[in-house]
Amino acid sequence: MASPAASSVITALPETTDPLKIYTTIASLRSYRHPLLSTKSLGFVPTMGALHAGHLSLIRTAAKENDSVAVSIFVNPAQFAPTEDLAVYPRTLHTDVALLESLNAEFSADSTTRGRIEALFLPSVAEMYPHGIPLEENAQRGAFVTVQPLAAKLEGITRPHFFRGVATVVAKLFNIVQPDIAYFGQKDVQQSIILKRMVKDLHFPVQIRVCPTGREVDGLAMSSRNVYLGERRRAIAPVLYQALRASEDEYRRLAAQGGTVDAKAVLAKGLELLQPGKDVPFEIEYFSLADLQELEELGTVDPKKGAVLSAAVRMSPVEEGQGPVRLIDNIILEAEE
Ligand code: PAJ
Repeated sequence: MASPAASSVITALPETTDPLKIYTTIASLRSYRHPLLSTKSLGFVPTMGALHAGHLSLIRTAAKENDSVAVSIFVNPAQFAPTEDLAVYPRTLHTDVALLESLNAEFSADSTTRGRIEALFLPSVAEMYPHGIPLEENAQRGAFVTVQPLAAKLEGITRPHFFRGVATVVAKLFNIVQPDIAYFGQKDVQQSIILKRMVKDLHFPVQIRVCPTGREVDGLAMSSRNVYLGERRRAIAPVLYQALRASEDEYRRLAAQGGTVDAKAVLAKGLELLQPGKDVPFEIEYFSLADLQELEELGTVDPKKGAVLSAAVRMSPVEEGQGPVRLIDNIILEAEE
């Protein structure tokens, strides 16, 4: 009889000469990882699927820097509020698997890439949350990870449940996968800052690497949720990045004059551009210039310390059947040496 671990290793459906190994249980993933712990470095890319080029660039970096790569796809209920889009979050598993298999083919043909995707971890909700995970936070029971007060800032203002869900699932995934290095996107800058703090404070033996934001040709940050935009909202969505770039330019202009930089002046330049059209309304949730450690709003920026410019807008539906879509983006103003 097959062991429980072996029977939960399944092979992906699309025809390929090099099928991806898919692990659906914690036990099977552990039995893959355990023998390699002291011999092979493992890079890990956690995702919620609906993979796009931004995700793939994280996986490419992981494959360059490690002997092997694990990717997870898990739409994590704990980071969705009851009012949010858990039920309709895009799920494109067949395309995702095909994309991962084509990445492996690319890695095999590229002598500068060391690793390949050896494991796709695809757990069920019951596997990750054996006691269940109701969306109402006060109905949830068990252990959760909070990173305060960072989780209450910026995204946390309108999504107070969000980073508790993210930190909890990433802590679980780190305990299961035991990666050497985990890869996250700068697109979600607050997420990466919070996870770095979690790893530091809870002594996880994992390095966090933050990779650049993948963008469409017109500058819009790639996101699995961009498919919800529809044509009219998609056409004006790049204004968010344009506004951040305008603020960045103003920051660089003022910083070049020497001394500290007035945050209000920097933000004003972006906000001038970020005007909702009357046909495509949106609401600015935040347009922020904050420090890179605590995400505290700054009155002045010290170029020696740097800062992060970040913004979120909520675009209202403009066509039948649409829901609101939030767009987030950011630019890091690196600390000067
Ligand atoms: P998801 O939105 O699927 O993103 C997975 C990873 O891809 C995250 O590290 C995210 O920052 C990165 N990413 C998303 N869009 C990107 C882009 N345009 N360029 C570069 N990287 C990008 O973030 C999550 O899932 C979840 O919160 C997760 C960490 C998996 C926990 O559930």
